[in-house]
Amino acid sequence: MNVKELLSLKNKIIIVTGGAGLYGKTIVEGLAEADGTVITASRNLDAGQKVAEEFRDKGLDVHAMRVDQADHKSVMALKHQIQNKFGQLDVFVNNAVTRPMKGYNAPMEQFAESMRVNATGMMDILREMTDLIAQSGGGSIINISSMMGMFGPDLSNYEGTNMGDPSPDYFFHNAGLINLTRYLTRVLADKNIRANCISPGGLFNDQPQRFLENYCKKVPSGRRMANNDDIKGLIVLLASEASAYINGENILMDGGMHA
Ligand SMILES: NC(=O)c1ccc[n+]([C@@H]2O[C@H](COP(=O)([O-])OP(=O)(O)OC[C@H]3O[C@@H](n4cnc5c(N)ncnc54)[C@H](O)[C@@H]3O)[C@@H](O)[C@H]2O)c1
Repeated sequence: MNVKELLSLKNKIIIVTGGAGLYGKTIVEGLAEADGTVITASRNLDAGQKVAEEFRDKGLDVHAMRVDQADHKSVMALKHQIQNKFGQLDVFVNNAVTRPMKGYNAPMEQFAESMRVNATGMMDILREMTDLIAQSGGGSIINISSMMGMFGPDLSNYEGTNMGDPSPDYFFHNAGLINLTRYLTRVLADKNIRANCISPGGLFNDQPQRFLENYCKKVPSGRRMANNDDIKGLIVLLASEASAYINGENILMDGGMHA
């Protein structure tokens, strides 16, 4: 096959959870620019619709649906909506996250709330979306973890800032997601479903100047944080047939920070 055909997402129905968020929005844009039909799903339907309209104005095929991944009824409603509207699902980008825990000593209720959404809810929506992909004859799962799922926190990044200390739940659930990816590769093989993971570094979002100074000097790729273009090529690769033989992989996308 021609490499442009291999990378094309034409006729693929793709769902991105948290597609109105920071990484989610650029992921949605990249997938749609590669000719995919992309659904962004998150709790706030208005925010999703705003993103979908913005991209439709640019000629991209983007739709918005509502889901609270911590609510099984809401997950099932999303599943039925996708079935009714599109009749198939080819790619699931598991990107939504909530960050309720504020530091190491925060109340355990905050850790539990994180697990309710980022672990239990995440597994629920993953299983239901995977079922739709299986019914469609197979496809691709892309989990979005973090470099913080692979390494301990670099506390020197926070020196001189008032950003607080990094929360343990985030390191815990992101690390789990990386090995869950390998689990899925084995367990879903006979359904013709591949699973891969991306572990990005920090995306530029007007962080405090002192944080940027601490962080960026450690990044070999341009001494900068990730920008909106950095994840697009990788997400399209993993969603497309061009990565048919990449399976169970976790790709660190941190500009060489941990080289
Ligand atoms: N932002 C970064 O610098 C960064 C760095 C590395 C990895 N990541 C990873 O990227 C992914 C996205 O992070 P982000 O920073 O873009 O997040 P964000 O906070 O900007 O957006 C999160 C999205 O998830 C949605 N969401 C939260 N709870 C939900 C629920 N119960 N049901 C459905 N949707 C829900 C929100 O509505 C929002 O759209 C995460 O997996 C995160 O670990 C982010």
